[in-house]
Amino acid sequence: MACIVNFSATTQPNPQPCFASLPASTSSHRSKSPKLQSSHLSFASNNSRLSLRYDRTLAVSPPRETLLSKAPNFMIVAAANKPEPLKIMISGAPASGKGTQCELITQKYGLVHVAAGDLLRAEVAAGSENGRRAKQFMEKGQLVPDEIVVMERLLQPDAHENGWLLDGYPRSLSQATALKEFGFEPDLFILLDVAEDTLVERVVGRRLDPVTGKIYHLKYSPPETEEIAARLTQRFDDTEEKVKLRLRTHHQNVEAVLSMYKDITVKVNGNLSKNDVFAKIDSVLDELLEQRKAGSGSLAANKA
Ligand code: AP5
Repeated sequence: MACIVNFSATTQPNPQPCFASLPASTSSHRSKSPKLQSSHLSFASNNSRLSLRYDRTLAVSPPRETLLSKAPNFMIVAAANKPEPLKIMISGAPASGKGTQCELITQKYGLVHVAAGDLLRAEVAAGSENGRRAKQFMEKGQLVPDEIVVMERLLQPDAHENGWLLDGYPRSLSQATALKEFGFEPDLFILLDVAEDTLVERVVGRRLDPVTGKIYHLKYSPPETEEIAARLTQRFDDTEEKVKLRLRTHHQNVEAVLSMYKDITVKVNGNLSKNDVFAKIDSVLDELLEQRKAGSGSLAANKA
């Protein structure tokens, strides 16, 4: 089910049915990628599942020219000296701890966390047509076809300014290829490696706080108070039966995705406690930043 994603340098409309387009002024924030300096963005699909939602994303941002004209000069100088922000991908089987580690990473490094699953669940919760369709695939543990909300999120100014942490995307060769074609190249690809029995236990014990978005586990990360415990919810796909389907989908796709990022992949033992897992990730990110500050240019990751 091909998703036609056109990010052309012209303002020609996409010949396919186009679900959204973005005027030049809203898509022109800085990018090293020639493809992202384009003046017209359109996404289309011959069998689209999810469409873009510009109303609450780029379209509400003032043009960069406006921002710069209002900014004092010293801010511009500071921005010029600022090192390029980190761009990280985190991957792993269902319940391997991606979301948990992302909380810790964003707390320390201020990256924008972009979680494919969260974006899709937001569609489901909103009760939209796209969400309804997405849910049918999520319930079967399959990949939602043509989901493009991730690209939209990565293009927002905060992700550009602060760097991003992409969680659960890409999950297939076609998604990885599309990202590359758009110029989204990570500095580091973190792979959390967790034993299968542990994954099932983590899934069935997982609970979410709808107020803070925090991830809990009844045994490993219990809620801090009775009040929080009372409001915790469980994901509709967090059953033993469904996690097995999700695992199968993961195994079918993971090698192809890894092949795209093998030179920058760091495999982390995710069976340890969440703080120990974070300590490893933290040391790799620290090193990456040090290299960047030293201006070593290439950021080849150290293998774990
Ligand atoms: P998604 O929401 O991404 O689910 P997932 O990949 O199955 O991963 P999870 O969110 O279940 O787990 P996690 O690794 O974040 O673990 P967590 O930190 O919560 O995707 C859901 C669905 O959306 C997919 O099945 C698919 O249908 C669709 N989808 C998503 N991305 C897509 C894409 N790119 N393309 C198409 N479709 C897509 O931890 C789990 C539990 O373990 C928690 O309770 C936590 O407290 C606990 N825990 C975490 N770490 C530790 C630790 N070190 N020790 C002990 N307990 C721990």
